[in-house]
Amino acid sequence: MGEESKHVAHCLVLAYPAQGHINPMIEFSKRLIQRGLKITVVSTVSFWNTTTPHTLKSLSSHPQNIQVESISDGYDNGGLAAAESLEIYKETFWKVGPRTLSNLIQKLASNNNPVDCVISDGFLYWALDVAKDEFGILGALFFTQPCAVNNIYFHVYKKWLELPLSESEYLIPGLPKLAASELPSFLYDYGSYPGYFDIIRNQFCNIHKADWVLANTFYELESQVVNWLKEIWPLKTIGPCVPSMYLDKRLLHDNDYGVSIYDQNIDSCIKWLNDKPKGSVVYVSFGSMAGLTEKQTEELAFGLKESDCYFLWVVRDCDQVKIPKWFLETDDSEKGLVVTWCPQLLVLTHDAVGCFLTHCGWNSTLEAICFGVPTIAMPLWTDQITNAKHIKDVWKMGVRVDADETGLVRRESIGNCIKEILESEKGNEIKNNALKWRNLAKDSVDEGGSSDQNITEFVAKLAQLCS
Ligand code: UDX
Repeated sequence: MGEESKHVAHCLVLAYPAQGHINPMIEFSKRLIQRGLKITVVSTVSFWNTTTPHTLKSLSSHPQNIQVESISDGYDNGGLAAAESLEIYKETFWKVGPRTLSNLIQKLASNNNPVDCVISDGFLYWALDVAKDEFGILGALFFTQPCAVNNIYFHVYKKWLELPLSESEYLIPGLPKLAASELPSFLYDYGSYPGYFDIIRNQFCNIHKADWVLANTFYELESQVVNWLKEIWPLKTIGPCVPSMYLDKRLLHDNDYGVSIYDQNIDSCIKWLNDKPKGSVVYVSFGSMAGLTEKQTEELAFGLKESDCYFLWVVRDCDQVKIPKWFLETDDSEKGLVVTWCPQLLVLTHDAVGCFLTHCGWNSTLEAICFGVPTIAMPLWTDQITNAKHIKDVWKMGVRVDADETGLVRRESIGNCIKEILESEKGNEIKNNALKWRNLAKDSVDEGGSSDQNITEFVAKLAQLCS
């Protein structure tokens, strides 16, 4: 008689429908598959429909056999863009999502593919009600933002940090002393973004139900705050969730970069970078959500032109109208290339790139860390403000632009930062620090590193609980 076949734990990985949320969860999924787990990645119908055709092809043809499924946000044709407001979108999604998640888990069970554990984005905390209360299976929350920022938001959720802010400085456990202006912007402008603020604050309301809390960061980067949070959460740091073959600068599979919401202009960007001197190009990008004002776009255009550096500038389609006419008319594509979207991982690993002028979104920050790219921090909102503080003052791997009293970052400040990184003695120190963090990031995901060990422990415990 043959041995009874061993049960392979099946995790359903549920991502909030945004590129910066789903990509780290896909990368984490790949690491779980490598350790023998079965994974189904789930996001909304509308999200899968709006990604590039390459995305779905790359997932379905991925050598690690990533299964893809959908739930509904109530807006299968168009998602958030089809809703009247984020508040209405959220209300609908929070009603329809749990029901369709429950249907999906039932469908998978009846197809002989039962789910053992739901790993849900913290934003979609209600997935743990479905997993734990309805199906009695395991549940984990996955936080795509840094532990420093999660801890601040958790303090707000617990009302340990009272709003509106009344102090000029805050001492939060595990964090450096933060001026009020260094806290995530939602803590002082939450009235302008009630929907986002609500999603962010409520990420913690099911944390008591979580069997694990997984965070896309690594221990060495945030050790103090991780130590503090581990006292109160079943926390495991499992990042940086950046495709690991990029850490070795080896492109193993052309379909390995995850999801892209726009076409990436791969050939034009890389061809343009290929003949630029080593470390000479300023790569400029503000991520997938926030945009600059028209005035700020013009100031940035002046800053880049006047600094006379090579630059690769991502201006999304929706923001192209803000590029000043004079800039387009004098466009010198040898000196600067403007694209609507680029293959950021390939760009950051390119030898020609000397620094990254970034909004400090958490994925961009981790990507800069992973590839040892010195950073010019130009945060716009939310966690970016606190990430910028860490980049400059804690990790010392970048500089930060100054804004004037109206909030505008002037061309002089942009030019000075570029010079400081590319040409000054301090720039060399910053580059060395960036390389130090790159090595620590790589060590953490290499065999036996802190994140690698945490993933191994997670998988072992899961196997034990599911056997
Ligand atoms: C949002 C919030 O703005 C940010 O504050 C939060 O930390 C995460 O969610 P987003 O604006 O998308 O994120 O920025 P970021 O987290 O940096 O993610 C952007 C992703 O898009 C990165 O993975 C980056 O590699 C990718 N990207 C960006 C491209 O692939 N091409 C581009 O041209 C620009």
